Amino acid sequence: MTDELTQKWNARYQDADPAASRPCEVLKTFAYLLPPEGRALDLACGLGGNACLMAGHGLETSAWDVSPVAIDRLRAHAESENLPIEAKVRDVQKEPPESDAFDVIVVAYFLERDLAAAIEQALKPGGLLFYQTWTREAVDDRGPGNPAFRLAPNELLRLFPGLRVVSYREEGLFGDPARGLRNEAWLVATRP
Ligand SMILES: C[S@@+](CC[C@H](N)C(=O)[O-])C[C@H]1O[C@@H](n2cnc3c(N)ncnc32)[C@H](O)[C@@H]1O
Repeated sequence: MTDELTQKWNARYQDADPAASRPCEVLKTFAYLLPPEGRALDLACGLGGNACLMAGHGLETSAWDVSPVAIDRLRAHAESENLPIEAKVRDVQKEPPESDAFDVIVVAYFLERDLAAAIEQALKPGGLLFYQTWTREAVDDRGPGNPAFRLAPNELLRLFPGLRVVSYREEGLFGDPARGLRNEAWLVATRP
């Protein structure tokens, strides 16, 4: 199963350009909340757009993904841009992050519900979680077709019961579907 998963993502990243990888909107929008120093993790980082933002901000940044192709590309990009990123092939389902390890964790477009407790615990007290991913309520067909990879209404809030919410957005199907945050939910939360 893991091999299949790795191959699927390797194929996806084979021709991708890490320089084109962008940080997620929730991190870009709330980057002013980041601490000036500390340890950050981009979990299931892909090409590492979030890792690059955090490393550029001055955080000592780890970036983990199951795809060796993505990690190789991110390493080369980080080196060429002189960004302090420790990029590592790591299956986070087999090896979740250790407790009390990070000041910031970012998770974008990756949803493994069984990992939520470990992610919560991996924050240091006062640490911040930025999470952005697809919701089942959607105004068009962007995002994964499998509902298991999409959040139910308010699910992101329920996944991290031990955290204090700093900011949350989920606009579902309300109002003008051409405006606002659609198809996704954003959470910024801190470990008390
Ligand atoms: C949709 S991509 C998102 C990548 C990145 N977070 C972004 O926003 O660009 C999902 C990522 O999760 C990674 N992934 C899937 N299962 C994983 C696992 N068990 N451990 C680590 N990474 C995993 C995939 O390799 C892929 O890079």
